[in-house]
Amino acid sequence: MRKNFTEKTFIYPMPVLMLAAYDEEGKPQCMNAAWGGVCGRKQICLCVTPTHKTVDALRKRGAFTVSIGDVDHEVQCDYAGVVSGNKEPDKFAKAGFTPLKSENVDAPIIAELKMALECRVASYDEDSHVLIGEVVNISVDESALDEDGSIDIYKLDPLIYESPNRKYYRIGECVGKAYSDGHTME
Ligand SMILES: Cc1cc2nc3c(=O)[nH]c(=O)nc-3n(C[C@H](O)[C@H](O)[C@H](O)COP(=O)(O)O)c2cc1C
Repeated sequence: MRKNFTEKTFIYPMPVLMLAAYDEEGKPQCMNAAWGGVCGRKQICLCVTPTHKTVDALRKRGAFTVSIGDVDHEVQCDYAGVVSGNKEPDKFAKAGFTPLKSENVDAPIIAELKMALECRVASYDEDSHVLIGEVVNISVDESALDEDGSIDIYKLDPLIYESPNRKYYRIGECVGKAYSDGHTME
């Protein structure tokens, strides 16, 4: 027997993506977004509501960054998802975040989070709420890198969002090698 959850849209795992953009006054805005992922060779897509302050800001500026929420900043990331910059003028600072101007796009990077995708707005659809971002650069803080310069998932410690039960989790153990283990079945 399988239980039907009807037409909801959740998958496993879901990311905690922290969007950031400068608004019209040049103030940094940020929000938590879990409905997002890779949708092209250099593109990411997100489903974001137009009335959010951050969405208004990124549409007007044509640029935004997407930082990977991490376990160390779980409370701050959730704060950015439950409080709006439309009501709290100092939301970015109150979240405990420091804006770092991206060298590649007209948007702030959240300095406290170790990995950021710097994006141009490729398109936004008012009906579907689908935002497509063209990735211009990915920057990662040295503290999340191995000795050989590759990204260490445990040092990055990304937050995982579990939608049906509204909980956050941490990455578990490595269980195999991709593009490799499957060959043992050939
Ligand atoms: C775990 C979590 C995931 C969220 N995912 C999304 C999302 O994918 N799209 C969206 O429009 N809002 C999402 N939100 C809601 C926004 O982050 C929230 O409404 C926020 O207050 C908007 O902030 P702003 O108005 O300052 O931009 C999420 C909130 C949480 C807590």
